[in-house]
Amino acid sequence: MACFLFLSPFIHPQLQHIVAKMTLLDTLLFYVVHFVDKLEAWHRLPVIIGAVYLGIRRHLHQRYNLLHVGEINGQRYNTEEFAHRTADGTCNHPSDDTIGSQGTFLGRNMPPSTSSYGLLEPHPTVVASKLLARKKFIDNGKQFNMIACSWIQFMIHDWVDHLEDTEQIEIRAPDEISSGCPLKSFKFFKTKKVSTESPHLKNGSLNTRTPWWKQHCIYFSLQEDDKLYMTNCSGYESRVPMWELVGIEGDRKLSTIGMEQMLVSLGHQACGALTLWNYPSWMRNLVAHDINGEDRPDPVDMATLEIYRDRERGVARYNEFRRNLMMIPISKWEDLTDDDEVIEALHEVYGEDVEKLDLQVGLQAEKKIKGFAISETAFFIFLLIASRRLEADRFFTSNFNSKTYTKKGLEWVNKTETLKDVIDRHFPEMTKKWMTCSSAFSVWDSMPTPANYIPLYLRPFHLIFIYLVLPISMVIWLSTILL
Ligand code: HEM
Repeated sequence: MACFLFLSPFIHPQLQHIVAKMTLLDTLLFYVVHFVDKLEAWHRLPVIIGAVYLGIRRHLHQRYNLLHVGEINGQRYNTEEFAHRTADGTCNHPSDDTIGSQGTFLGRNMPPSTSSYGLLEPHPTVVASKLLARKKFIDNGKQFNMIACSWIQFMIHDWVDHLEDTEQIEIRAPDEISSGCPLKSFKFFKTKKVSTESPHLKNGSLNTRTPWWKQHCIYFSLQEDDKLYMTNCSGYESRVPMWELVGIEGDRKLSTIGMEQMLVSLGHQACGALTLWNYPSWMRNLVAHDINGEDRPDPVDMATLEIYRDRERGVARYNEFRRNLMMIPISKWEDLTDDDEVIEALHEVYGEDVEKLDLQVGLQAEKKIKGFAISETAFFIFLLIASRRLEADRFFTSNFNSKTYTKKGLEWVNKTETLKDVIDRHFPEMTKKWMTCSSAFSVWDSMPTPANYIPLYLRPFHLIFIYLVLPISMVIWLSTILL
């Protein structure tokens, strides 16, 4: 029966090998997801049905897309002895003292790429110059401001950093494009490949940080390494260009501006849209920091480096990535985007070969769902990892109690819903004067979200879709399976 199900012509041929590994129940759940995907429908469904779709998808990803790298050598421990987070992230997972701690292997969301393309195929600087480099600034509308993007960067950089090797690599821009590149060549350290001594995934990368939250991020952001991450955005009031706020000099400048002005400035600027030809130009000649927060001797072209890093670390290219996420792969550029200019540029860089498309480029070229700042493909990873991040952390689950937080502490945490509440608590006059929007992450002078008294799960939906398209498609689908 299961064999019949995964070989069914209903399933995209390139996904059959993934379905073949599933249990019967999961195969049936996959059918539901795949059926909705074929109609490109989940985001148009009533909220409650859309949530069921995402719930099923998340279940499948949790089963098939969380790959532990290396052996699990940790021990159980007495959580009562550790009522707080540790600096190196040990004793944070509810049942294992080392998971997620500093210096352990980074897990994967899918196996390393099986593609046979070389690290320079096509050349990463060509990809960066022809597809990523900013032509003119495209903002993200009112939805997200610079606090949102600094916050995301701050968190991600606080959680993840691949251990480097001591061997240096140099990337040189090919002659035909080098005149337009801020750096004709640049050097950086290879990612260190470490043997896992496990038969499943033979090599992996070690994380020099810990992905568990460290609460000092917010209140002590000018301490230790964290100070680097609040500092990369420009001041609104004083019109300080963003590149002046980067690095150690930027740190100094920000400390003279002060917290309130910095927040007002960042809050009023829309962040850049995640789309092609919008990569900040100043990041293509960036003095990055080392792990100790010191300037590195060689500047890097981050746009080029990002393409290279994904390939070097075995991150699947776009189409393989989609398959591994059980999404329908593309077979031509037109499946990815309707934009003729983008299609022409993709042709120029990758020819006809959609398999070659780099993940980063695909994510930015992909048609976006209405109202989404990130692509659907990126959203599915977010769906998996954001919930995994919370569920695996005992301070949000089994230890989320007054014994750990104290009664007063828990009350305080429960009364604080959003970043707006936090800022409001510290600077009530400032938020009253400057923030009209509902979320501290939207552009601050935008309108608040209008009150809607209909519960979320009963919000209007496309009746025609529900009562006509869905049943007809269901009948067609069942007949392809049964007849
Ligand atoms: C002002 C903006 C930013 C600057 C200056 C910046 C800078 C850097 C630098 C220098 C690296 C190390 C490059 C290397 O050697 O491989 C890096 C890595 C990285 N950045 Fe950013 N970044 C910025 C924004 C962001 C944002 C918004 C995100 C996420 C949404 C992000 C996520 C990452 C990730 C995941 C890595 C890889 C870390 C690793 O090695 O494991 N960055 N960034």
